Amino acid sequence: MSRIPLIAGNWKMNKTPDEAVKSAQELVELTAGAEAVEAMIAPPFTALTAVATVLADSPLHLGAQNLFWEASGAYTGEIAPNMLTAAGCSHVIIGHSERRQYFNETNATVNKRVHAAVENGLIPVVCIGETLEERQSESTQLVLGDQLKAGLANLTAKDLAHLVVAYEPIWAIGTGQAATPDTAQATHQFIRSFLQKSFGNKLANSVKILYGGSVNVDNIKELMAKPDIDGALVGGASLEAETFSQLVCFNLSE
Ligand code: PGA
Repeated sequence: MSRIPLIAGNWKMNKTPDEAVKSAQELVELTAGAEAVEAMIAPPFTALTAVATVLADSPLHLGAQNLFWEASGAYTGEIAPNMLTAAGCSHVIIGHSERRQYFNETNATVNKRVHAAVENGLIPVVCIGETLEERQSESTQLVLGDQLKAGLANLTAKDLAHLVVAYEPIWAIGTGQAATPDTAQATHQFIRSFLQKSFGNKLANSVKILYGGSVNVDNIKELMAKPDIDGALVGGASLEAETFSQLVCFNLSE
């Protein structure tokens, strides 16, 4: 089964609305010739509405970097799922390692957010990944298995029909040390077979598994050549429209 690749840009805490609009406009122009690939950008909350207007007539998707699981109420500082859909989002990143590290995100809160995303028709981009110590002590599969099992608890294959998983080894994020294509492929294969055992063949075959962690113009092609790597979640290299457009068009260049 062929999966359409997804190249996603996580802008993290960068860009004012004006800066985000400018980058999005450049990106729309520069990716006009992209073929057979989906692209998504996730600006900060404050820029979502403005960027949605720029992307409206383009094939580019809009994502948020987080959401809260309640629908409304006294949750100062939080953003509800329907606020994201109303702002034009189709995707939402959940459980990024920076949220886990700095904001007490756990597998249990990831699970609540995935439920909320699914119930509101948002495509969850669920991030998982191991630390360097965990990889060195050969507990990567254990850690990723726990993150998937708990993060996707009480959800069915039908709920997760549009699920995107982003495998982001923490040691590779922002370090310039991407996982080798072989290491990433072996881990993606493990993730797909875990999903197959938990949710069946159909879901395992359709789920997009993105690789994230120091993806750049020099390594994207080799990574994307691997059978279980269905796209990339890109941080640093997504901030410049010129560079990110080259990643989105990875399959067009020589
Ligand atoms: P990076 O970040 O591309 O800057 O390594 C990836 C991510 O955190 O999603």
